[in-house]
Amino acid sequence: MHLLHHILGVLLLLSLRTPASSAATDTVSPGHALADSDRLVSNNSKFALGFFKPSSESSSYTSNNSYLGIWFNKVPKLTPLWTANGDNPVMDPTSPELTISSDGNLAILDKTTRSIIWSTRANITANDSIAVLLNSGNLILQSSSNSSNIFWQSFDHPTDTLFAGAKIGWDKVTGLNRRLVSRKNVIDQAPGIYSLELDLNGDGHLLWNSTVAYWSSGDWNIKGRYFSLAPEMIGAAMPNFTFVNNSQAQEVYFTYTLHDETAIVHTGIDVFGRGLVGVWLDSIQNWLINYRQPLHHCDVYAICGAFTICSDTEDPLTPSCDCMKGFSIRSPKDWEIKDRTGGCMRNTPLGCGSSKEEKTGLTDKFYSVQSIRLPHNAQDVQSATSGDECSQVCLSNCSCTAYSYGKAVALFGMMSCIM
Ligand SMILES: *[C@@H]1O[C@H](CO)[C@@H](O)[C@H](O)[C@H]1NC(C)=O
Ligand SMILES: *[C@@H]1O[C@H](CO)[C@@H](O)[C@H](O)[C@H]1NC(C)=O
Ligand SMILES: *[C@@H]1O[C@H](CO)[C@@H](O)[C@H](O)[C@H]1NC(C)=O
Ligand SMILES: *[C@@H]1O[C@H](CO)[C@@H](O)[C@H](O)[C@H]1NC(C)=O
Ligand SMILES: *[C@@H]1O[C@H](CO)[C@@H](O)[C@H](O)[C@H]1NC(C)=O
Ligand SMILES: *[C@@H]1O[C@H](CO)[C@@H](O)[C@H](O)[C@H]1NC(C)=O
Ligand SMILES: *[C@@H]1O[C@H](CO)[C@@H](O)[C@H](O)[C@H]1NC(C)=O
Ligand SMILES: *[C@@H]1O[C@H](CO)[C@@H](O)[C@H](O)[C@H]1NC(C)=O
Ligand SMILES: *[C@@H]1O[C@H](CO)[C@@H](O)[C@H](O)[C@H]1NC(C)=O
Repeated sequence: MHLLHHILGVLLLLSLRTPASSAATDTVSPGHALADSDRLVSNNSKFALGFFKPSSESSSYTSNNSYLGIWFNKVPKLTPLWTANGDNPVMDPTSPELTISSDGNLAILDKTTRSIIWSTRANITANDSIAVLLNSGNLILQSSSNSSNIFWQSFDHPTDTLFAGAKIGWDKVTGLNRRLVSRKNVIDQAPGIYSLELDLNGDGHLLWNSTVAYWSSGDWNIKGRYFSLAPEMIGAAMPNFTFVNNSQAQEVYFTYTLHDETAIVHTGIDVFGRGLVGVWLDSIQNWLINYRQPLHHCDVYAICGAFTICSDTEDPLTPSCDCMKGFSIRSPKDWEIKDRTGGCMRNTPLGCGSSKEEKTGLTDKFYSVQSIRLPHNAQDVQSATSGDECSQVCLSNCSCTAYSYGKAVALFGMMSCIM
């Protein structure tokens, strides 16, 4: 079990290009749209909403894409907490506008063509809807004459951050599953391949591609108020986590409250598939990460992509990935912005399948690699009774790229001949 480690680090290597604020309101209403450079600010000044363009601190790369997002208003190292249109960015030179559309939904409009780029797509049962950024950071679409009549809220559609007071988990009546999904990388705000979710038994999991769990929380310990495999969740520096199994409301969820409402706490999943709790400290002008799981990048499934070797280093910000012998980085551009998930590709094509004659890879050779785990989709070949046989089975099938025999285990698209 990993102990609580205090790691000083930057949450996301992301700086945001946000123009100076001109609007100091928390509301979008018909006739009062939010233009590309305006911001909404919650009444307590804690959260801001507006359009931003991600850029990477570590390279000169700046995105031409704008996203509508919510971030901490007073944190100079701006950190996006919620993004509306992650997989549908506004592309230069389009000028976006956030407005109440004619059907009463909140929508991002292309100002030139008036086409809708994103919409809350809720059932609106009043003709007076307005959008308000609440003090909790929740963006809600409500009736202006009846604030209990809420049509849509951002807390039901989280990105990679769990806001204090928001829920992660299930509404069993509507089937709504609120889950956190990593961003693709520090530039591309589209949903990535990692997620943090609760199953219907109430256990939390970090998942790769919604299927492979590489970390699990265990059961909720009611008395101790922590998940059995994550006792680090309690501690003076941690928020007050609560697990709720509400049989009347048919909900199973996990939430937290802050001991101090003004504290700036970020809880979520980072681009590298790791769960974290960080606190912004004005004294050091940086995030102090109080909790991180898994502790090591290499414990995140496929963090380095195919045909790579992951090594655990002290650098909390970048997974250390190297190509295997004979392979090179598939996408140097992604590599530069610390996204390693594309992995590496073969320098010289295999003989196997390269021509009609070459239906097997008998001219290909294997290279042995130590200390690796089987992928989730490895095939068991029961018929092979020796390492040599196992290698022959693999060579005679052009979709097999590696094998593991006996106790040694290994890679993508591989076979295991387990006896
Ligand atoms: C906004 O905050 C001020 C104090 O800062 C308070 O007087 C006012 O009632 C608040 N408005 C709303 C709508 O909560
Ligand atoms: C952004 O647009 C400029 C001008 O069209 C282009 O030179 C640059 O490569 C683009 N940047 C990205 C990250 O695509
Ligand atoms: C909106 O209302 C229609 C008709 O009542 C219903 O079929 C649909 O499921 C509703 N959509 C949502 C998102 O609630
Ligand atoms: C909204 O609907 C109410 C009644 O449902 C009506 O009295 C009012 O005029 C409508 N307002 C607008 C702006 O259409
Ligand atoms: C306000 O909206 C809520 C939720 O839709 C509803 O239950 C309530 O009756 C409404 N109140 C009024 C005065 O219309
Ligand atoms: C939630 O409560 C119900 C009823 O008390 C119980 O049957 C169920 O096992 C509980 N689920 C979890 C995840 O604790
Ligand atoms: C993720 O799972 C889907 C099916 O659920 C599959 O089509 C897709 O190829 C998987 N992605 C990767 C990167 O393996
Ligand atoms: C934590 O939250 C729970 C549920 O809201 C509450 O009962 C408990 O008193 C809180 N504990 C602390 C230390 O604030
Ligand atoms: C070849 O290998 C692939 C993946 O390892 C497997 O799905 C397929 O069944 C194998 N084909 C034969 C003929 O064994």
